[in-house]
Amino acid sequence: MPEEKLCVPTLLTCTAPVNIAVIKYWGKRNEDLILPINSSLSVTLHQNQLKTTTTVASCKHFKEDRIWLNGKEVDINHPRLQSCLREIRRLARKRHSDEENNSEKLNLSQKVHICSVNNFPTAAGLASSAAGYACLVYALAKLYGVQGELSKVARQGSGSACRSMYGGFVQWIMGNRSDGKDSIAEELHPETHWPQLRILILVVSSERKPVGSSAGMQTSVKTSPLLKYRAESVVPQRMKEMVDAIGQRNFEKFAELTMKDSNQFHATCGDTYPPIFYLNDVSKRIMNMVHRYNSHYGNIKAAYTFDAGPNAVIFTLDEDVGEFIELVKEHFPPETNGELFLKGLPVSKVTLSEELKSAIGMEPCSNGIDYIISTKVGPGPQIVEDTSRYLLGLDGLPK
Ligand code: DP6
Repeated sequence: MPEEKLCVPTLLTCTAPVNIAVIKYWGKRNEDLILPINSSLSVTLHQNQLKTTTTVASCKHFKEDRIWLNGKEVDINHPRLQSCLREIRRLARKRHSDEENNSEKLNLSQKVHICSVNNFPTAAGLASSAAGYACLVYALAKLYGVQGELSKVARQGSGSACRSMYGGFVQWIMGNRSDGKDSIAEELHPETHWPQLRILILVVSSERKPVGSSAGMQTSVKTSPLLKYRAESVVPQRMKEMVDAIGQRNFEKFAELTMKDSNQFHATCGDTYPPIFYLNDVSKRIMNMVHRYNSHYGNIKAAYTFDAGPNAVIFTLDEDVGEFIELVKEHFPPETNGELFLKGLPVSKVTLSEELKSAIGMEPCSNGIDYIISTKVGPGPQIVEDTSRYLLGLDGLPK
């Protein structure tokens, strides 16, 4: 401890976003390198609502690598953390040996301290590993002066993390190589591409912690013939259609493909033996409500997608987002008042028509949804200049 106080560490802080897949990744062909059995496509969520912040520090007096996550020190020897650290250091060594006269050389034998927090509750069940690993890799790369393709490093922390290395609309190309060098993420369009697109996260009350994605997908790969069919015969064509729909800002097509892909992913979970259930009754009611809402208007105005848990992510256009929120409040009457129920980007109030209410024709389900986070498409990882937001102090320990 006293030794740690003596050093003046090099400090750097970054933030990284959460992403939500509209063509899902489910299944690995290589567990160690985290290589997927199909390509996937995601939308990066705005960091004003959901982000991870990570400070990294390096100092010759640090005795060991250490990491603190959301206020608690955790084991740095976690294999996936080690993969990311090892890979960044390997790239840094390579760069330093390529550029012999690099004056900003950071001593690569120095240990690092890492401190990371999410601005959203982990208890909300929102996938935090994607933003977490993306932020870690981005921050370490900046610390060591590593440039170039970093998504394949983030991928080795958590598959979906490679997509959080970019903003806007991102595809993760599965690649064919056994060393994974061609399994990378790529930004299709920046966050400015489709400004009308709005995103709502409906945080569903849930008492049980679902089966984790890594374990779940492992069982699916072993046992589900539907997953094999999906990866080989459905996703390749669907990726093309989704790329076109997003390119043309065709909401109906985008929404239809998003819902079909979420449904197929959950069908593969049901086809897994023993089956895995991520959706609960509230999730299914939300799906029903979205379909009734769309059929009332005779066109698709809202889409849902669900990851490995019961929370729904809804896509709408900004002209419809107010109405959709009222619809949620009507059918899932909140316990808290309106302000607490809706977090994030403000939405103007709309009165629901009696026609719409009766067209939905569902009994209200009290307290099914804890709260809504309202957000939009956002940018990729960022460097934080303001040192008051750093998570580690000059002693290299959490502030
Ligand atoms: C359902 O990226 O969390 O969210 O690679 O084992 O860390 P690991 O899995 P992870 O899986 C995400 C699965 C998903 C779909 C998706 O994001 O594409």
